[in-house]
Amino acid sequence: MLVRRRNPMRSSRPEGLPDPGFWQGRRVLLTGHTGFKGSWMLEWLEAMGAEVTGMSLAPEGPVSLFEGLHGLARLDGEIIDIRDADAVQRRVAEVQPEIVFHLAAQSLVRRGYADPSMTYAVNIGGTLNVLKAVAEIGSARAVVVTTTDKVYRNDGSGRAFVETDLLGGDDPYSKSKAICEMVVSAYRDHLEDQGCHIAAARAGNVIGGGDWAADRLIPDAVRAWERCEKFHVRRPDATRPFQHVLEPLRGYMVLAEKLVGIARFAPAYNFGPFEPGAKVRDVLHLVARHFDPAPVVYPDRIEGPHEAATLSLDPSLAARDLGVSPVWGLEETVARTAGWYRAFADGADPRDLCLADRMAYFAALLKGATAKPEDARDGNAEVA
Ligand SMILES: NC(=O)c1ccc[n+]([C@@H]2O[C@H](COP(=O)([O-])OP(=O)(O)OC[C@H]3O[C@@H](n4cnc5c(N)ncnc54)[C@H](O)[C@@H]3O)[C@@H](O)[C@H]2O)c1
Repeated sequence: MLVRRRNPMRSSRPEGLPDPGFWQGRRVLLTGHTGFKGSWMLEWLEAMGAEVTGMSLAPEGPVSLFEGLHGLARLDGEIIDIRDADAVQRRVAEVQPEIVFHLAAQSLVRRGYADPSMTYAVNIGGTLNVLKAVAEIGSARAVVVTTTDKVYRNDGSGRAFVETDLLGGDDPYSKSKAICEMVVSAYRDHLEDQGCHIAAARAGNVIGGGDWAADRLIPDAVRAWERCEKFHVRRPDATRPFQHVLEPLRGYMVLAEKLVGIARFAPAYNFGPFEPGAKVRDVLHLVARHFDPAPVVYPDRIEGPHEAATLSLDPSLAARDLGVSPVWGLEETVARTAGWYRAFADGADPRDLCLADRMAYFAALLKGATAKPEDARDGNAEVA
């Protein structure tokens, strides 16, 4: 196993914060870098001095966070369909990555129902192509594969899932991510033999500024309100473990550092709030405060394909092993998110907005670093 000399400043840093000394000059492959999470993550990794190569499709839609943060010229050579095994292999051989973050996916539940073949091909076949190439090239020391809270077999009880619960998934997207974890486990021994550790990162629902995907709660609501239209909510009583995008990204980076530096880690980690999932209607109520007047139309009955009624994750393992616990509660998360969209609509530069959120996040993390995880479980403290 490769163990790098630690940055001497590290001991003064709170646990659970990515270490710029670790990332400075690291060759990182980030798949999905043009997506919502990937755009934020690229910004953070590059701010720490990592040498990041992306691998994604071009950004979708008329507005793109990637373009706002990084510019379309940054895409040169980085548009690769992960279903194309040869192209993936060539690129991984050129990059010789030390760390791999695999975020690229067909990430939408409703699109999964509309096009299950594509969803399985990207999320399972694409993951296979990435891991096969990484294993063949043999340069990597850590691989983090992002899956989701939806990988668990959901019995509808509302119980917070722990990492040892059965996998399953309710719909094509969720099932594709559960099977993606089988692909991860199929490569685990092979990669371990090369001194490369791999783990799955299962994140709850992510919100934050700059997501413009279709069929996601906040982007759909913001689009409607900016057009002065009513927002028709599909499932107001669904509960989800909502968190700010910076929370799981921090988890992914700290997890990668731990995979390189120490032997004790689990095959998968949950990243989400300690509190039980929040209801969609409650989140909307909080967001709407920032978009006055913001009328929401509630459905008479629930229509459309099945989506889990409740989802909740237990993030205790990440707190224990990685020192990563959520920093922002729901109100702060929603306020930062709504504030981002409002400021963007008023002409603010997305780079300034993301940097301001990251700085506010660091400040909250440092402030809460001495609080205890039990306080966070009660939902009454900011904890790192
Ligand atoms: N957003 C959430 O709430 C959430 C929650 C849990 C897990 N996740 C997971 O986190 C990861 C990132 O999510 P996101 O919200 O940024 O998704 P996103 O849809 O915004 O971005 C998806 C990214 O994958 C890339 N991609 C899609 N198909 C591809 C293909 N065939 N070849 C190459 N690249 C391809 C896209 O170009 C884009 O860069 C995904 O794996 C997703 O399943 C997301």
